[in-house]
Amino acid sequence: MGFPAGEQLLSEIATNGGHGEKSSYFDGWKAYDGDPYHPTENPEGVIQMGLAENQLSHDLPEEWMWKHPEASICTPEGVAQFKAVANFQDYHGLPPFRHGVAKLMEKERGGMVKFDPDRIVMSGGATGAQETLAFCLANPGDAFLVPVPYYPAFDRDFCWRSRARLLPITCDSSNNFKLTPSALQSALDDARIANIPVKGVLITNPSNPLGTTMDRSTLETLLHFTNTHRLHLICDEIFAGTVFDSPAFISISQILLSHPAADPNLVHIVSSLSKTLGLPGFRVGLIYSYNDAVVATARKMSSFNLVSTQTQHLLAAMLADDDFVSNYLEENARRLRERRDLFVGGLGRVGIRCLEGNGGLFCWMDLGAFLKERSTEGELKLWRAIVHDVKLNVSPGSSFHCQEPGWFRVCFANMDDETTEVALRRIRMFVDRESVVEKQQQKKMRFMKDTGLKLSLPRRLEELAAMTPRLPSPHSPLVRATT
Ligand SMILES: Cc1ncc(COP(=O)(O)O)c(C=O)c1O
Repeated sequence: MGFPAGEQLLSEIATNGGHGEKSSYFDGWKAYDGDPYHPTENPEGVIQMGLAENQLSHDLPEEWMWKHPEASICTPEGVAQFKAVANFQDYHGLPPFRHGVAKLMEKERGGMVKFDPDRIVMSGGATGAQETLAFCLANPGDAFLVPVPYYPAFDRDFCWRSRARLLPITCDSSNNFKLTPSALQSALDDARIANIPVKGVLITNPSNPLGTTMDRSTLETLLHFTNTHRLHLICDEIFAGTVFDSPAFISISQILLSHPAADPNLVHIVSSLSKTLGLPGFRVGLIYSYNDAVVATARKMSSFNLVSTQTQHLLAAMLADDDFVSNYLEENARRLRERRDLFVGGLGRVGIRCLEGNGGLFCWMDLGAFLKERSTEGELKLWRAIVHDVKLNVSPGSSFHCQEPGWFRVCFANMDDETTEVALRRIRMFVDRESVVEKQQQKKMRFMKDTGLKLSLPRRLEELAAMTPRLPSPHSPLVRATT
């Protein structure tokens, strides 16, 4: 028996587009997938700079695994544990694993704060953690306020299946996208005027896409604001271990510690091993909630979201190695800083400015000067030229809900030094071509002014275009960018 004509075959969630796959953020990934750069096999291909992956320190866990074959059940040294690991399925997780994760969280925060392993709930990456928290804290239609620009996949992770909503808190470049008390208040006021129930605030600290950390006073403001209005505060601290420069990272857990009057029941931290340790494929995420009911509920829900015991077993051994973890964090930060200096320094030499960042796996690049039109459409035109002609998959600010056109997130930790140099060379060529076009346009304007020609005469413009010397390359990204 089939379905009657016109009847919806799939559910509303399956067909509502809430996954967000059709955004420019994911389109850029597709452009890369269809034509991936390879230094010898496809040197003209697209370089993937839209993926916040940390591939700079993979040699360190790899080396550790060579030295510790007993940590894996897939080696002669570790296979004796096979039965125990294969059978374990308690959704609390292996105690040594939760203990190791709690220690890692402490180390990522400079040892300034302690974490209780019994408050750690496992999930399939931070992706699963966000959704679980949305299910625990929000009913369909309830909203969380989120400072823009924000990580695009929050729309999927936090909203798609839970049907919670995200409402933007406006931040802009006038103060380096810093969250202000008035922006927070007006986002809440707007929601109340629109009759939208607000359940909390969701922040990412360090920020994806900005690559900056929140200062103490902003975090204090947030804690005070959420406490005053009885709102939850979710802090996604997935990039805590990627801070490579001063100022040092400050976690909401440290703010709680110094404000004993604040209600911890409203505070929840999300993290994962995807960024610090560069293990997104392991799918290890976690919720650390100060609220007992949330811990208990999230743990029940984690049945849908568990980390395999084999992975827990391996990581428990690695994270128990204090020297390895401390050295890793230090060396990884050093390598990230070095890469940031190489890439952002290279951009600076061709006059491209980035927001000053101190963490993350990316920079927030200002290409406002290259826009032909100050609008989202103008930004997307420029982005299409960068992806298809310059062959770099960067992510446009609009995909992060940035309200100011011209900003792009560029990931720099998912490639080697040589590929970074190729990317910088392509950007240099792009800027050179742009300045050629700019100069030609200025010359054209001067000529028209001197000869009294009017811009509004298309016939004359055609004649002028015919008189203009050809660009050095017919593939100039800027030619396409202007069309
Ligand atoms: C802010 C933020 N939260 C969550 C995630 C998802 O991470 P995971 O791979 O652990 O699911 C990402 C991944 O880029 C992220 O940037």
